[in-house]
Amino acid sequence: DHTHADTLRTPIVAVLGHVDHGKTSLLDTIRGSAVSEGEAGAITQHIGATDIPLDTISGMAGELIDPSDFDLPGLLFIDTPGHHSFSTLRARGGALADIAVLVVDVNDGFQPQTEEAIDILRRTGTPFVVAANKVDTTPGWNPQDGEPIQRSMEAQSERAKSMLDENLYEIIGQLSDAGFSADLYWRVQDFQKNIGVVPLSALTGEGVPDLLTVLMGLSQRFMKEEMAIDVTGPGEGTVLEVKDERGFGATVDTVVYDGVIRNGDTIVVGGQNEPIVTEIRALLRPRPLAEIRTEKQFEKVGEIGAAAGVKIAAPDLDQAMAGAPVRVVRDRPEAEVVEEVKAELAEIEVETADNGVVVKADTLGSLEAMANALREAEVPILRAEVGDIAPRDIAVAETANQDEHKAILGFNVDLLQNAEPDLENADVKLFKNEVIYQLVEDYERYVEEKQR
Ligand code: GTP
Ligand code: MG
Repeated sequence: DHTHADTLRTPIVAVLGHVDHGKTSLLDTIRGSAVSEGEAGAITQHIGATDIPLDTISGMAGELIDPSDFDLPGLLFIDTPGHHSFSTLRARGGALADIAVLVVDVNDGFQPQTEEAIDILRRTGTPFVVAANKVDTTPGWNPQDGEPIQRSMEAQSERAKSMLDENLYEIIGQLSDAGFSADLYWRVQDFQKNIGVVPLSALTGEGVPDLLTVLMGLSQRFMKEEMAIDVTGPGEGTVLEVKDERGFGATVDTVVYDGVIRNGDTIVVGGQNEPIVTEIRALLRPRPLAEIRTEKQFEKVGEIGAAAGVKIAAPDLDQAMAGAPVRVVRDRPEAEVVEEVKAELAEIEVETADNGVVVKADTLGSLEAMANALREAEVPILRAEVGDIAPRDIAVAETANQDEHKAILGFNVDLLQNAEPDLENADVKLFKNEVIYQLVEDYERYVEEKQR
């Protein structure tokens, strides 16, 4: 359906990593330096995403970038909260993000959510770079605000330099343990074979020019064909989050990765039970950068084209699922689009058995990741669903005919208040964790103890 491909869309860059390793600070710095470059107006603030145009990027990267080397329009950054699984970021047939920045605290190295992010990057084949953040916390560091990292390193004492090197090699070693050959980015010849590590500080901005340069290079070289889209075609996107918004009811924060979405369009959205067919009442974007911090207000837009983040307000969205597809119907039979959405949901296959545990997760992507992890651990699943833990889940778990299966494994979900008494009265064990493999390990340990 890309026969009218004529325009290059903005590559989607996911920023991921362990809690507190500096994802949001890094994006703030990129936005902030853009503002101090006098380009505040050029930046578009989206729902869950920030669009930075090429000119602004080359302004920040200074001598490291020659804008005439690039013909992509810029980069669309998506921040992923640490507690929220990157696996929400799925799209038709794969990952929503074209490339990713894995943020690792240079002192902490790999942590559980770093490992989890790496697993997903590997499974989806998403190219990525590593931002080795917080170099400024190296003892004796002499900050060089906003400078390219090699210049900054020249300004450091031997002692500071060797301490940083030690930490960087630790991270390179951890990447290698995870099956990725990696090196400091300026030593990488072939970014298709090796992962580049960019030392930087979100606090002082040193190394940020380098990161932007590497990202532009990566997207230009490997993504150009995939960036060619029909900008006027029916929009396609992925739900990042379902949120109640005063005056609008349930809305879906969506990243549009293809085509265009217009106000009034009929859309099909993946829902808890079946696809939701509804008509868009409003397309909402945050107000420009300067205002967003003080007032959380939205601006209504008539249409929005890929790649972009937008909040969609429409009736009946309360059953929509994070990670589910959003499709504009326009000029096609509605039933055809409903089938498309169903087919895409079926792709997220969770094999269930007559006996097994109950699994609940916050998004479709994380449900899929949970199912994979449980299959590897040979734990059968009786029922798997997106959403918080409800009385019904406890009732279902109780029906398991083996004691060890009378369990609910919840990833990034809450126990609903009205389910609390049910859980107390039922012979059902609840496991909750924000790291998938820890959740599976907790359950396995429980089974072992039970069998002893
Ligand atoms: P979550 O969204 O909770 O997963 O965290 P995050 O990865 O977005 O981290 P965030 O940007 O909120 O930063 C966490 C803490 O680290 C904050 O106190 C930041 O000020 C601090 N921090 C982030 N980057 C740097 C850095 O480069 N240097 C120093 N010294 N502190 C930093
Ligand atoms: Mg954050």
